[in-house]
Amino acid sequence: MISSAELKKLYLGFFQKRGHKLIPNASLIPEHDPSVLFTTAGMHPLVPFLLGEPHPLGKRLCNVQRCIRTGDIDEVGDAWHLSFFEMLGNWSLGDYFKEEAISMSFEFLTKELGIPAERFSVTCFAGDRDAPRDDGSAREWERLGVAKNRIHFLPKHDNWWGPAGQTGPCGPDTEMFYHAKDMQEGSTDEFVKLSSTGPFCEIWNDVLMQYDKAADGSFGELKQKNVDTGMGVERTVAVLNGADNVYECDTLAPILDMVISISAKGTTKANRNARIITDHMRAAVMILGDERGVVPSNVDQGYVLGRLPIRSVDIKSEYKTIVWTAERNMA
Ligand code: GLY
Repeated sequence: MISSAELKKLYLGFFQKRGHKLIPNASLIPEHDPSVLFTTAGMHPLVPFLLGEPHPLGKRLCNVQRCIRTGDIDEVGDAWHLSFFEMLGNWSLGDYFKEEAISMSFEFLTKELGIPAERFSVTCFAGDRDAPRDDGSAREWERLGVAKNRIHFLPKHDNWWGPAGQTGPCGPDTEMFYHAKDMQEGSTDEFVKLSSTGPFCEIWNDVLMQYDKAADGSFGELKQKNVDTGMGVERTVAVLNGADNVYECDTLAPILDMVISISAKGTTKANRNARIITDHMRAAVMILGDERGVVPSNVDQGYVLGRLPIRSVDIKSEYKTIVWTAERNMA
C-alpha cells in the first residue's frame, strides 16, 4: 500500500533530484487573477513565469498544489471526479520540452511507482487549425515502449490545457491513463468509452505550453516553450492500491466511512450521494481553512463555499426521502 504522503515524497524527491526547485503550495484563492474564483492547477500562480518573466528559483520547479475545480461538479460522485484535490506538478520554464518531460513521466510511473507499461494508455493532441497534430509526443511514447495501439489522438476538447482564465498560456497536452480494471481497448473509440465511464483513469497530464491565447480567441506563440504537468494525488494513490475509484484513497476513505456511519442503514461505499457529501464537505473545509480565508456570502468564492454544504444537505434529504419511500413501499 502507498499513502498520499509517500507518493508526494517520492514525486518531489524524483524531480528535485532532476534539478527542480520545490515551490510552496499557493492559496486556493488566486492572488493576482480576478478572472477565476479558485486555483484550479499548480500552473495558476506561475502564469507570469510561463509568459517569460524569470522565476527567482530558476527554470525547473515542482510542488504539490491544492486545487478546486467547480467545472467538474456534476461529475463528482462518479469513480474519479472531485471538486477539491491535490495535484503534483513539475514545470519547465523555457528549459526542457516534450521528449524530456515525457521520458521523466514514464520513468517515474514505471520505475519509481512500478506501474507496468502494459497497464497504461496515453493520448496526444490530434491537431486543428490552431496547432498541428502532436506526432512528436506519440513518437516519444513509442520509443519508451508504449504500444502503438495504446496511443490515441484526440481533439482540443480532450487534449488541450489552459488558459487558466480567459486568456494566457496554454497548449496541447499528452495524458496518461491507468487501467484500473484489467481491460484492453481495441480502438480509439473504445478507449474514449473506457476512459469516460470508469475503467481507465487519467492520472497525469503533461501540458506542452507553447501558446498564448488572446482575448479575440487567437493563439500566438509564447516567448518560450514550457512544460506544465499535473498528477492527481488521490487518483494515483487509489489506483496504485488497486482501487477502481478515488474514494478509497487514504485522505477520502475515513471521511466516506464517517458519512456512511451517519447515513441510512444499508448505505454502501459506492453510494453516489454519500460520495458527493464526502467530497463537498472536504472541499468546504479546505476553502474555509485557506490562508486567504473565505467566509460564506452571496458572491464569488463565498457563494461557492456556502453552496457546497447546502448542496450536500439537499442531496442528503433527497436521499433520505428516497430510502424512506423505498422502505415504506417494502413494508
Ligand atoms: N495544468 C495541468 C493540469 O491541470 O493537468
